[in-house]
Amino acid sequence: MHFEKHVFICTNDKDAPKKCCGSAHGMDLIQAFKDEWAKSGNTSKIRIQKSGCLDFCGKGPTMVVYPEGVFYGNVQLEDVSEITEQHLIGDQIVSRLQIG
Ligand code: FES
Repeated sequence: MHFEKHVFICTNDKDAPKKCCGSAHGMDLIQAFKDEWAKSGNTSKIRIQKSGCLDFCGKGPTMVVYPEGVFYGNVQLEDVSEITEQHLIGDQIVSRLQIG
């Protein structure tokens, strides 16, 4: 596999008043994950990028981590360090945020 982990964060932005991840803080999450990853100093090859709708709009902001295929919902900026340390580095699912 090209990347050890591949993180897709929904930044889909629908017209109001539909709930969607982009209008919450999807783009902010991408930057926060990239910053947190850089701060960790970890050299594993991972990719963090935006995605379209992951089909869990009511539980947004959402994201999915591969190769595990683990979906997280209602992800807040305060959760970024926990997901980074526990899952992206430690390979342990953050079960309190898992959906799907
Ligand atoms: S808008 Fe993000 S899951 Fe649908």
